[in-house]
Amino acid sequence: MHDFSRIDQARDILDRQRMRGRRIGFVPTMGNIHAGHLKLLERCRAECDFSVASIFVNPLQFGPAEDLADYPRTLERDRELLAAAGCDLLLRPTVEDVYGENPQNSTRVHVPDLSERLCGAARPGHFDGVATVVTRLLNYVRPDIAYLGLKDYQQYLIVRKLVADLGMDLRIEGVETVREADGLALSSRNAYLSAAERRAAPELHRTLHAMACRITGGERDYAGIAANGREDLEAAGFRPDYIEICHAGTLRPAAAEDTELVILAAAFLGRTRLIDNLRLAIDPAALA
Ligand code: PAF
Repeated sequence: MHDFSRIDQARDILDRQRMRGRRIGFVPTMGNIHAGHLKLLERCRAECDFSVASIFVNPLQFGPAEDLADYPRTLERDRELLAAAGCDLLLRPTVEDVYGENPQNSTRVHVPDLSERLCGAARPGHFDGVATVVTRLLNYVRPDIAYLGLKDYQQYLIVRKLVADLGMDLRIEGVETVREADGLALSSRNAYLSAAERRAAPELHRTLHAMACRITGGERDYAGIAANGREDLEAAGFRPDYIEICHAGTLRPAAAEDTELVILAAAFLGRTRLIDNLRLAIDPAALA
């Protein structure tokens, strides 16, 4: 595996791959590689000729009171896992490479509306940081396809929109969430959970699943179902940020006639903020 911290070094190799007509796939990460990232890479390798992963803990997407300093940095292990999984090139630029000497003065990318909902409302500026860094990384790597996890469903929609709006010539693929046996979605932040919190954590997925069953069973009082979901999470010891049933494309609150839905939640267990979502399609005949 090539391993570069300098963007220009990676560009030379990538240009050569492109000249040979090879299809480049890209998996952007913040490191602390786990089975969820490896699934993105597996899909990338199955569909592309040359696979690139990046590790960059992006300061712009962390709020002042968030876990930037504590975010798990495990470069040696990450490198081993990526190499063993067949990654061809690892790019791990420095903050200065990406943002120059004065990150606060560098150009930002903002995706209106989608960025302000749900996690965007709870974490102001977070998605501007994500959109900005992803745009830069995509410009450095210039992949044919980039792979993002569907656990971060709002992030996935935002990146898809910015790619379409900016006329970037690539495809964004969403890859299904990897879960522990008890349903907890894999996340680097799961490492912050105490033993008791870890036992309670799968209730997040169970709650979304129970809500989805009520919808597929024919219930359409989405506000009522979401309110019950919130109560269930609180009873299990969570402090919910939001739990909502939305249109799967716009993330606006779901309307009675919508057929593509997503249930999304973010909730604290102790100091750890977990997110999860569940997508579901309603048969249009069931709405008639
Ligand atoms: O999902 C992540 O790990 C990050 O938000 C991303 C897409 C790598 C941007 O920093």
